[in-house]
Amino acid sequence: MALRAKTFPVLFATTRTLATAAATKPPSRLHTASERALLDRMIRVDQAGEIGANWIYRGQLAVLGHDKAVAPIIQEMWDQEKKHLSKFDELVTHHRVRPTLLRPLWEVAGFVVGAGTALMGKEAAMACTEAVETVISDHYEDQLRELVKLTPSEDIKELSEVVSQFRDEELEHHDIAVDFDARNAPLHGPLSTVIGQGCKAAIWVATRI
Ligand SMILES: [Fe+2]
Ligand SMILES: [Fe+2]
Repeated sequence: MALRAKTFPVLFATTRTLATAAATKPPSRLHTASERALLDRMIRVDQAGEIGANWIYRGQLAVLGHDKAVAPIIQEMWDQEKKHLSKFDELVTHHRVRPTLLRPLWEVAGFVVGAGTALMGKEAAMACTEAVETVISDHYEDQLRELVKLTPSEDIKELSEVVSQFRDEELEHHDIAVDFDARNAPLHGPLSTVIGQGCKAAIWVATRI
């Protein structure tokens, strides 16, 4: 058993999280099994996305932390992402959702994308934010359209309010990135395409794993 705990630390950490979650207030019983499965997928992918976002901004600041023009605004956006992640951590616990098994991957990938684009310059870092927030705000918008189809409940109401607020804040991050010259980045078009497609692939994976 000791060997297995060492071999699968993520799975063992997940088990511990679920054990903690079991002690909290149970989620609404109004929902069918298929609605519950849909809610699980939504909350899992949103938590994974907010983990990635946090590490993108962390990576950007690791490179541009000295830059007085952009460091404060990157910090401000990162602070907001910390609040987003802590809300989804709370929802994962409340709804007893199995968290993503790929947390270390989202952390490393986020940091590499954030730091990598920042190394290309502050405009490229902003182009990264513009591309990521475009995909994430669309993703939240899609979720809102799904949520209105579900049986109304306090849980759905809360999740809809959270997703709606976060969609607005991701759109603000997008607009800030554009204001800070995202579109003057070298290779803006291809960079946006690659990052946008990468985000969509990550969403597909994180919904499932
Ligand atoms: Fe966010
Ligand atoms: Fe954001």
